[in-house]
Amino acid sequence: MSFRVEFSDSDKEAVELQEGDCLSEKLTIQNSPILFGCRIGICGTCAVEVLEEKGDPLHPRTHDETEFLGTMAPDRNKVRLACQIHINTNIKIKKTEI
Ligand code: FES
Repeated sequence: MSFRVEFSDSDKEAVELQEGDCLSEKLTIQNSPILFGCRIGICGTCAVEVLEEKGDPLHPRTHDETEFLGTMAPDRNKVRLACQIHINTNIKIKKTEI
């Protein structure tokens, strides 16, 4: 099963991923506006705001994501770390600062 990742604030085309694909392994500087640093959920470079989940909800934050974002972006429950997302639904995301 495949899912689409759309970027709201970019002229990049939507990217089609297979279920379970990790965004940090499939999104590159060529195909997305999302940048990655540590890729393990501790730097915040890949912070995105999830604007839409089309179909099922996106899986909940991982343990590391919850800890990091609870400190760095409290009260912003639409913010996720793209490096921690294993795609399970169609999403529209926007790069954000935390
Ligand atoms: S790349 Fe560092 S938190 Fe995602």
